[in-house]
Amino acid sequence: MKISGRTKVCALIGDPVEHSLSPIIQNAAFRSLDLDYVYVVFNVKSGDLREAVYGVKALGICGLNVTMPHKTAIIPYLDELDETARKTGSVNTVLNNNGRLIGYTTDGVGALNALKHAGVDPSGKRIVILGAGGASRSISFTLAEHASELVILNRTFSKAKALKDAIRKTLGERAKVRALPLSDENLSVELADADILINATSVGMKPNENETPVKQIYLRGDLVVFDLVYEPLETRLLREAKSIGAKVVDGLSMLVHQGAASFEIWTGVKAPVNVMMKAALEVIQRREGGV
Ligand code: ATR
Repeated sequence: MKISGRTKVCALIGDPVEHSLSPIIQNAAFRSLDLDYVYVVFNVKSGDLREAVYGVKALGICGLNVTMPHKTAIIPYLDELDETARKTGSVNTVLNNNGRLIGYTTDGVGALNALKHAGVDPSGKRIVILGAGGASRSISFTLAEHASELVILNRTFSKAKALKDAIRKTLGERAKVRALPLSDENLSVELADADILINATSVGMKPNENETPVKQIYLRGDLVVFDLVYEPLETRLLREAKSIGAKVVDGLSMLVHQGAASFEIWTGVKAPVNVMMKAALEVIQRREGGV
């Protein structure tokens, strides 16, 4: 990678960010298309967010990815929001358009494209999503527009209900959304005729890889199971789903597709998804091998 006086800078801001795969994924994409961009990472504490965003303008940084804990907090410092970011109240991508900062969220389209990449079209499907945190919020808003029904199950029921109410308020009657507490009984009933199950909780994530949010008896071979957790790459949920013949989609695919959508916002160039996937996979496999 040659860095010159003309090189454009994109950056991730969040806290913590040290283990992020985004620099690997984005720099692999810039290199493969010979684009004069570089992607770096800044650890920004919550109290420093405003100054950091002013710095983006002052330094002419061309684009940002935004992660925890700033996805909502950054909104007052931006000049404009695209429609999806406004609806969901969450920003994971910023474009610096000649000094005007425009916020986007690519989590929803990332999930949609990860499913499509696996040959799964969520249109008209019954979707069950577990979790009602930041990740679930963006994805639920997007998928509610496509699904015949979206059922949100969360450990803390009030959060699932608040998310359902927010989706209904924004999308109106065309959004068929329900909220329920996450329990074995509700999983058993809802998964009996679901088409797609999405885990947007942190259950099963390293170092708790022996945990699963859904007992295997509730899974079915004709279910598509999509886990947003990508460390480990094959979670217990995905392993058990695969073993009964279910189609699985992993969290790395989601990470790459939301990154690909950010790349396209910054560069206006179609993202090399396969290059990005390969780069991410190499790092994950190296980490899993303990190297
Ligand atoms: P993210 O941005 O990844 O969505 P988050 O906003 O902290 O992170 O949300 C984490 C989600 O995982 C929440 O839905 C959380 O449930 P609560 O709202 O009840 O906290 C869910 N979660 C985390 N640990 C869990 C566990 N052990 N069992 C069930 N759900 C869990």
